[in-house]
Amino acid sequence: MYDAIAREVVRRCRYLATCSDEPGCTTRTFLSASMRAVHAEVSRWMTDAGMRVHVDAAGNIRGVYPGRSDGSRPLYIGSHLDTVPHAGAFDGVLGVVIGVALVDSLRGRRLPFGIEVVGFSEEEGVRFGIPFIGSRAVVGEVDAALLAATDASGTSVAQAIGDFGLDASRIADARAASNPVGYLEFHIEQGPVLDTLRRPVAVVNRIAGRTYADVSFIGSAGHAGTTPMDARHDALTAAAEWIGCVEAQGRGTGGLVATTGRIEAAPGAANVIAGRCRVTLDVRHGDDGVRTAAVDRLRAAAQEIAARRGLTVEWSPRFDSAAVAMHPALVAMLTRAVERAGATANVMSSGAGHDAMILAPHMPAAMLFIRTPGGLSHHPDEAVMEEDVAVALAAGAYFLDELAGVSEDPPLHSVDD
Ligand code: GLV
Ligand code: MN
Ligand code: MN
Repeated sequence: MYDAIAREVVRRCRYLATCSDEPGCTTRTFLSASMRAVHAEVSRWMTDAGMRVHVDAAGNIRGVYPGRSDGSRPLYIGSHLDTVPHAGAFDGVLGVVIGVALVDSLRGRRLPFGIEVVGFSEEEGVRFGIPFIGSRAVVGEVDAALLAATDASGTSVAQAIGDFGLDASRIADARAASNPVGYLEFHIEQGPVLDTLRRPVAVVNRIAGRTYADVSFIGSAGHAGTTPMDARHDALTAAAEWIGCVEAQGRGTGGLVATTGRIEAAPGAANVIAGRCRVTLDVRHGDDGVRTAAVDRLRAAAQEIAARRGLTVEWSPRFDSAAVAMHPALVAMLTRAVERAGATANVMSSGAGHDAMILAPHMPAAMLFIRTPGGLSHHPDEAVMEEDVAVALAAGAYFLDELAGVSEDPPLHSVDD
């Protein structure tokens, strides 16, 4: 029944992947020109599905589908529209497009709750090195320091918002309603579990915590031809030694993943010893104690390496988030919806971060993962199977049905229940 809609969902995602900051690949950063093109298209789809559309001051596109009465509480359905560099077509985008398709499938039928589909402007943290700007605005966590953060060209978050034609001083208006029904996110799994199990979807029960920091080694630049090897304070070789420690920490600690995804050496010439070297650190684990202990060890290792080599080290925290649980009642409801859709309902935790981890401390949240062939993501060949998207759509429709049945007297009013 959802086959044709699933085909259209996949077509839409592939179309949005052509909106890119760079030709020949998909790279779409916070409030770039290509995001404007995406907004134009998503806005058309939302309007056709019966939603009122606006873009909030954080650049999130929001389609509002009213409920049965004026005071109906909203269910938020969303994910992000920005991408990593050289991305695939489905990370984030699929969740927004599925949200629009689910509203469209209601064909104007009003539910006891409203639905607001949100295309978050920024989840990946590529432009400003700070993730989740879109969802943090929705929970009221964008402060003056975040608005003042600058990108590589020196443009601040506030300025980027202004350049997009939005007003950063209205950021508080982006906040979610105070009494939402909850938040639902559809997302590709981005890993191999479902592909290995040959299952189309899984219900997420927990999202791993994450530490993200910039680590800079500061030595001294010098001539590559004349400075003896034992007289150097090479920032790049110090960083290289530490990067090896990061990998060893990840390999040696069960369930820990530790990544140094980006390195910049300055001044950056073949014949100059690097005087500064900045490395990004991304550490994740389902258990916050294991993660923070690993980060403490890596910090000590950076200091030891720097001191031994006559350098200093600067540690700049970028983002720190505890592991978060999805709401048990919504997890159970989504599990039933998957079973009604004819699939086996696996429940699994997420190693990747998602907008749901920002919203979950503020409202009941749930996520459905969709199989990612080969587990390949953050890669241009990222894919989904249409039949899996059809299962996700059916599960989403059953979820809305059951929620409609209980939401007149909702059991989901608090994350503490
Ligand atoms: C989001 O893509 C993440 O880095 O987990
Ligand atoms: Mn991603
Ligand atoms: Mn994502």
